[in-house]
Amino acid sequence: MSDRKKIIVTGGAGFIGSHLVRLMVNKYPHYEIINLDKLTYAGNLANLQDIESSTNYRFVKKDIVDFEDIKSFFLEEQPDGIIHLAAESHVDRSITDPLSFINTNLVGTANLLLAARDCWKEDYKGKLFYHVSTDEVFGSLDLGEETFFDEQTAYDPKSPYSASKAGSDHLVRAFHHTYGLPIVISNCSNNYGAYQFPEKLIPLFINNILQEKPLPVYGEGINVRDWLYVEDHASAIDTIFHKGTNGKTYAIGGHNEWRNIDLIKLLCELMDEKLERAPKSSEQLITYVTDRAGHDMRYAIDASFIEKELRWKPSIQFREGLSKTIDWYLSNKEWLASVTSGAYMKYYEDHYANR
Ligand code: NAD
Ligand code: TYD
Repeated sequence: MSDRKKIIVTGGAGFIGSHLVRLMVNKYPHYEIINLDKLTYAGNLANLQDIESSTNYRFVKKDIVDFEDIKSFFLEEQPDGIIHLAAESHVDRSITDPLSFINTNLVGTANLLLAARDCWKEDYKGKLFYHVSTDEVFGSLDLGEETFFDEQTAYDPKSPYSASKAGSDHLVRAFHHTYGLPIVISNCSNNYGAYQFPEKLIPLFINNILQEKPLPVYGEGINVRDWLYVEDHASAIDTIFHKGTNGKTYAIGGHNEWRNIDLIKLLCELMDEKLERAPKSSEQLITYVTDRAGHDMRYAIDASFIEKELRWKPSIQFREGLSKTIDWYLSNKEWLASVTSGAYMKYYEDHYANR
């Protein structure tokens, strides 16, 4: 790739995408970073307020499901790289509304692949399609077993979300195999950090503790997730985009497994300290509720390949990352209030529509 790259990041207004866009805009002033996002309920341009005036950054409101629009945009822009994060991303929503996951995650990814293939016209020198995926494509591990997901693990998705992401991974590999499209894929574990929409476990529970609302623990709370600080995921994506090998997959994780209930108790303890509430007062909000349908038991990543091959490793320990995350939500109550009230939806109209 030439030194001056034009990169389209899809889903850049979401949780992980906004961290990645910020990292790239600040780290690579000579690149042009285009954030392509539909702004669904999960997209919030206020996440990028600090860099929205940067000269190497541009936002375009587009739906990846609209093939004609995406294709003509790619033909016009001639990007060097695509980093594809746009997706429907919440498992609970995929249980009640699987079709929108199939449309965005499968059809949307296919549209981007076709648009990249057609715009690059087999002249793939210096080009790369990076698909950001999840460890949930590998299904579920057993509790108490020393087994991990890695790059060789067979696909066995169990939720409509993970099945749609698995299908999109397969499409990306099929385009590499069939048309020679240069690709990389990464499958990452659960992320946490600033700007995460308060429907996922950690931000939802921070918000509920603040509001003294019940903390709905699914089932017995014994399911295990492997948590990674979002800025570490963004740095892994940056590393893979620049140093990864064409056609390869990278498993990304934090070597940081927590049973939900243990994580929730730690969160309660930290919140009590920070809010100067009596010890154990937040824990009293814990309410066991009916389990999620088809709830995967355990996710855990063996990230030794990316650590060895690309010398990437997580930089933040969980307790410190969780503490920083809580501090961010406590210092950004306006962000949280605008997201929970829906006011954030007006950010685009107020700040961008007349540009
Ligand atoms: P998110 O839900 O916070 O953001 C998704 C973004 O995609 C939003 O800005 C949304 O507006 C945009 N989008 C959705 N549909 C679109 C469409 N049709 N056209 C254009 N834009 C659209 O998601 P996230 O948590 O930041 O996850 C980003 C990516 O990383 C996803 O592909 C997800 O599968 C993957 N991932 C997430 C995690 C995690 O823990 N959150 C872990 C591993 C992988
Ligand atoms: P979530 O943040 O939805 O991520 P994922 O389903 O992609 O892992 O959930 C993390 C874990 O927390 C998962 O085991 C489900 C559980 N959970 C609850 O117990 N209660 C909740 O309200 C939510 C949202 C999740």
